[in-house]
Amino acid sequence: MIISGNSCPGRSTNLPEKNKAHSMIVGTGRAVPPKVLTNQDLEKIVDTTDEWIRERTGIQSRFIVEEGTANSDLCTEAALKALEEGQTDPRDVDLLLVGTVTGDAKFPATAVYVQDKLGAKKAVAFDISAACSAFVYGLALADSLIQTRGYKNALVIGAEILTSMTDWEDRATCVLFGDGAGAVLLKPANGPRGILGTYMMSDGSLADLLYSPGGGSRFPASHRTVDEGLHFLKMKGREVFKSAVQCMGDAAIKILEQTGITKDQVDLLITHQANIRIIRATAKRLGMPMEKVFVNIERYGNTSSASIPIALDEARKARRLKEGDLCLMVVFGGGFTWGSALVRM
Ligand code: ACO
Repeated sequence: MIISGNSCPGRSTNLPEKNKAHSMIVGTGRAVPPKVLTNQDLEKIVDTTDEWIRERTGIQSRFIVEEGTANSDLCTEAALKALEEGQTDPRDVDLLLVGTVTGDAKFPATAVYVQDKLGAKKAVAFDISAACSAFVYGLALADSLIQTRGYKNALVIGAEILTSMTDWEDRATCVLFGDGAGAVLLKPANGPRGILGTYMMSDGSLADLLYSPGGGSRFPASHRTVDEGLHFLKMKGREVFKSAVQCMGDAAIKILEQTGITKDQVDLLITHQANIRIIRATAKRLGMPMEKVFVNIERYGNTSSASIPIALDEARKARRLKEGDLCLMVVFGGGFTWGSALVRM
């Protein structure tokens, strides 16, 4: 089942008056574990080939954690880099959001572990569960809370250890995912720079196309759930593919319409890095040349909620995004969830 029609309903948050920014990104950071898993390594584990993976997904390698590394470790490293760039003491952070589906534990939130590691004692800290869309959801929420509740230093992090729910015997999924974290620091802003608009949407009728059924209250962890592999990520790849293209395109069009900005004014498009063919199809639907699209999937694989903030950080550090540039981010993930954010850097 796929989303039909040319546009999705959805909710835009915080759409400011045209070009009036409410919060701005003042620092970004990323963290990945040192271990690299190449397609050649995967050839030794499952019945696959480097050629198939590169042609069907664009992925060549991905970073994966070794035992003992937790989600909050990657979050903390990425956050410290964002704070350093934003010249902000962790003790001044007052809002800390972590988007993840692979937190340190079932509860409490990974955000509170990050809070503790950073020494961000003044922060309110909680997680956002929106699969791959969680970072953009977090950006929208932090932007709203900065406007309405007066937060001054908001950390928004997307982080996943997807390999913790990877079935290494399922070649259709195990070649896709990688681990990592990306963080941004937001501060209040006035003037042309900052978040110009955000858009979020969900459709729970499609939840079972991409999910991990075991270990929750429906199927509490037991020998049976483990024996049946219910704790692994399950995906109907082809259906997800079609919806991802449709929804990311819709989300991009929606935010451009609502902010009155044209695609030609956008300097860089960053889509969720799930599959190079999805990225190309989304760019084509929007009529944007690939030179204006940021791609790093070949080195990271799909890092779910970390994919956008990692790409954003790389794009800034590589000077693909400069001060004053317009960046359009679009996401899609389990739920289904999707959304977009338009940011003047
Ligand atoms: N190596 C070799 N062959 C494979 C592999 C593999 N790793 N995986 C599947 N195949 C085979 C299949 O068995 C099938 O063989 P058959 O024709 O003999 O039955 C054939 O390749 C084609 O399989 P499809 O599933 O149709 O391949 P497709 O071109 O759709 O690519 C893929 C699969 C890469 C998963 C693609 O559907 C996809 O990217 N889907 C979207 C994933 C996504 O966007 N997720 C986003 C959210 S997920 C998240 O972020 C947490």
